[in-house]
Amino acid sequence: MRAVTWQGKRKVSVETVPDPGLQADTDAIIEVTSTAICGSDLHLYEVLGPFMDPGDIIGHEPMGRVVEAGSASGLAVGDRVVVPFTIACGRCWMCDRKLYSQCETTQVTGQGTGARLFGYSRLYGSVPGGQAEYLRVPHADFGAIRVGEDLPDHRYLFLSDILPTAWQGVRYAGVGEGDTLAVFGLGPVGQMAARIGVHLGARVFGIDPVPERRAMARRHGVEVHDLDSDTNDAIRDATQGRGPDGVVDAVGMEAHGSPVGKVAHTAVGLLPDAAARPLMQTAGIDRLGALHASIDLVRRGGTVSLSGVYGGQASPLPMLTLFDKQIQVRMGQANVKAWIDDLLPLVEDPADPLGVDDLITHRLPLESAPEAYEMFQKKTDGCVKVVLDPKESR
Ligand SMILES: NC(=O)c1ccc[n+]([C@@H]2O[C@H](COP(=O)([O-])OP(=O)(O)OC[C@H]3O[C@@H](n4cnc5c(N)ncnc54)[C@H](O)[C@@H]3O)[C@@H](O)[C@H]2O)c1
Ligand SMILES: [Zn+2]
Ligand SMILES: [Zn+2]
Repeated sequence: MRAVTWQGKRKVSVETVPDPGLQADTDAIIEVTSTAICGSDLHLYEVLGPFMDPGDIIGHEPMGRVVEAGSASGLAVGDRVVVPFTIACGRCWMCDRKLYSQCETTQVTGQGTGARLFGYSRLYGSVPGGQAEYLRVPHADFGAIRVGEDLPDHRYLFLSDILPTAWQGVRYAGVGEGDTLAVFGLGPVGQMAARIGVHLGARVFGIDPVPERRAMARRHGVEVHDLDSDTNDAIRDATQGRGPDGVVDAVGMEAHGSPVGKVAHTAVGLLPDAAARPLMQTAGIDRLGALHASIDLVRRGGTVSLSGVYGGQASPLPMLTLFDKQIQVRMGQANVKAWIDDLLPLVEDPADPLGVDDLITHRLPLESAPEAYEMFQKKTDGCVKVVLDPKESR
């Protein structure tokens, strides 16, 4: 089959690789019909290279049709399914508490990390990912989400990651009807977090340096701001001087406007992988611009919720401000299945309350992955969200 593979920093290629096969009776094999590129893939593309191996199949936002069903998968050939990016068993101590991204059956104990993820480096189990013609879905009996036949792929596709990620981000921020919410970053995750805030009845402020991403958010009722030195003051002014009740950081560790972290990222990127890995695991590597701005902006006693991924072990934090302002901080990989019952009716609603019809800017053949990654990272051609189509030839 054809699959998108990691080859090195800022280098992916589409290669012919062996087809996947069933390995356990709870597995299923799906033929992928749509598979998105995520901001998390950009971290692999840029800074997490030391944990990747050339040839790794990447991608973790797939959907498709079952072509082989393990005897205990509970699925049948022909079922249409969306696959969550977090791989969980559904029956361990953590899964009983709906902490699926901490599943004790799939935790990568050798790395000291949580549940396995599709296509996401040695840190998360080196599981072959979903930017491919076919995908083996481990624990498909619990993970795979069966969906109906009538609606197009893009209505369901984002249940794999960005919708539950954004929903968890907003829920963890603790905001609802009549509250105020700020969202840093209006990439796909931030778009959805901001819209979910609006849907739940909050007044929502969105911050991003990219004009077309701000324009998209504005179409969905978000009050948008550029990333200027006076942005936080402007949002404080709009919230009686206090700052918003909750702030979602949908940017993560590669934020713009973080000079110290950028030097560290560049330095780590220049080392051979064997030297870079321990450094990344012990020294601070994150670019903390969005996190520090979130801590500055949130009101006293409010909550900062991190959807953006962080990966440094010694990133400096303003403990005085966090403690003095009595800030709560929540974060983590999305516990995808915990939120599907809330989200499925919204994506199937003909009124499209979260605007999933207005997110994808590019649908391209799988073979175009190298250009698509570059475009998504550089944010050229108005790119907000790319979906790759394995069935369409270039
Ligand atoms: N927690 C999870 O389970 C989970 C799941 C999916 C994605 N993520 C993470 O969410 C983050 C966003 O993902 P995405 O797909 O939207 O990616 P993206 O890279 O397209 O979006 C990031 C956005 O942040 C903006 N930005 C950069 N620096 C900023 C700053 N200082 N202030 C405000 N905006 C800034 C960029 O212009 C961009 O629009 C990534 O870190 C990704 O890894 C986490
Ligand atoms: Zn993702
Ligand atoms: Zn489990």
